[in-house]
Amino acid sequence: MNEKNHYEKPLTISVVGKGGSGKTIITTLLAKSISKKHNFKMLLIDADPTHPHLSHMVNLVPEKSLEKLRTDVIDEILTKAKDFEKVAENIDFEVYNAIAESKAFSLFSIGQPEGPGCFCPSNTLLRKVIGSISKDFDIVLIDCEAGLEQINRMVIESVDILLIVSDISIRSIETAAAIRESAKKFTKYKKLGLILNRVKGNTDYIEKKLKKLNLPLLMEIPEDDAITEFELEGKPIIDIPESSKSYLKIKKLAERILNPKFFEN
Ligand SMILES: Nc1ncnc2c1ncn2[C@@H]1O[C@H](COP(=O)(O)OP(=O)(O)OP(=O)(O)O)[C@@H](O)[C@H]1O
Ligand SMILES: [Mg+2]
Repeated sequence: MNEKNHYEKPLTISVVGKGGSGKTIITTLLAKSISKKHNFKMLLIDADPTHPHLSHMVNLVPEKSLEKLRTDVIDEILTKAKDFEKVAENIDFEVYNAIAESKAFSLFSIGQPEGPGCFCPSNTLLRKVIGSISKDFDIVLIDCEAGLEQINRMVIESVDILLIVSDISIRSIETAAAIRESAKKFTKYKKLGLILNRVKGNTDYIEKKLKKLNLPLLMEIPEDDAITEFELEGKPIIDIPESSKSYLKIKKLAERILNPKFFEN
């Protein structure tokens, strides 16, 4: 690390919100903005087992997901009858191998379960892995699954900053308020704020609603044709021009949340 991190290492930022609100886009643009301005050692976690798009948006795809690692370990013990202790000794090494690295940041992905069943085992493992590998980084940025599940299961219990993304619908704002209530119970967040995404037209009604709910608005990100264009062509969002209107706002957001004063009130 060439740059002093003002925070207790690591600073953990989780991006949550209703399905389709723009969590992965915001995570990607934040990663771009933080890596352009700072020399922090940053880990991105694609924690969404349902829509694992982060690695493609940032153009860094790990060879193995956490879910694949988990099923391989089970397979080694059950079908290849490998010594349990030897497999256990190797797990840390395997986890580090599942982290993809670029100049700008590292990334690992929870991955999608192949068979039937719920996401509980992978979420439990994810919680443990976040705890064990985060200490090697200055910043950990997590793109979460939509809704409340990963908060309620305490997967992101040790988060510092909780960024709740919402579109301009009242339903999405209500989901944001429900997320805050869960986060109060099941996480130890230090700061929480709302990012209003895909903003266009008059949003007075939303601002009134936010005031009523006492939800702090951190930034408004406009509806951006550059994002739509990149998505239509399947290009990685991380390559979006720095002059794009959404990126300019995300830069401001990054400056705001990385300023130590952000934690003062
Ligand atoms: N500011 C924006 N301007 C234009 N399009 C946007 C903007 N933000 C998000 N989108 C579009 O909205 C869609 C959903 O975005 P994204 O995948 O980031 O949402 P998500 O919350 O991660 O969804 P999921 O819950 O499925 O993981 C994408 O097609 C994306 O291109
Ligand atoms: Mg997503």
